[in-house]
Amino acid sequence: MTVKIAVLVSGRGSNLQAIIEGIEKGYIRNAAIHVVISNKADAYALERARNHGISAVFLDPKEYDRAGYDRAILNVLKQYDTDLLLLAGYFRPLGNEIIEVYKNRMLNIHPSLLPAFKGLHAQKQAFEYGAKVAGCTVHFVDEGLDSGPIIIQKCVPVLPEDTEETLTERILEQEHIIYPEAVRLFVEGKLKIEGRNVVFLS
Ligand code: GAR
Repeated sequence: MTVKIAVLVSGRGSNLQAIIEGIEKGYIRNAAIHVVISNKADAYALERARNHGISAVFLDPKEYDRAGYDRAILNVLKQYDTDLLLLAGYFRPLGNEIIEVYKNRMLNIHPSLLPAFKGLHAQKQAFEYGAKVAGCTVHFVDEGLDSGPIIIQKCVPVLPEDTEETLTERILEQEHIIYPEAVRLFVEGKLKIEGRNVVFLS
């Protein structure tokens, strides 16, 4: 059975690209991205999707009230029969209904070692805080902000010569490794949530 994936994006889409390549190269098997949805018309991620023959949908937040926007997303997800929903640089709060419908089958990537530095500009937060170790996290999405059960984390040391930009770049390299890895584990049915803990089944 093929796991049907939808991806929510807002911008560049480099994590989307890493997952597309993971599928195309056979690292992630039995899965296909059926649709990419953006809240930004000019998101480069939409172009990346089209380049790979994936449906790219822009939903304009200006055309809906908050609940209506969520319903519009849910309609597209339903239309594409989505099994797994991925947030990949999606910068808009999600309504509870989507979170409920996709409970335990929605993942997010965040550029910090959660629970440190939640929210926007996590790399900048870590850099300005003077953290010696930064990193990234793939986690299940729950109702809280960047708070769902953690699947994979990767540490990235903050080097004395780092700027916010160089640190962000090195974190991104690790994101491109752990997001496809987490998707693969999900698709292979190897993730079991036990409370806050995600157990890897063999
Ligand atoms: C990534 O660094 C991702 O971790 C971050 O936005 C960037 C998107 O890049 N997400 C968040 O900060 C979510 N809170 P991309 O569009 O090239 O994948």
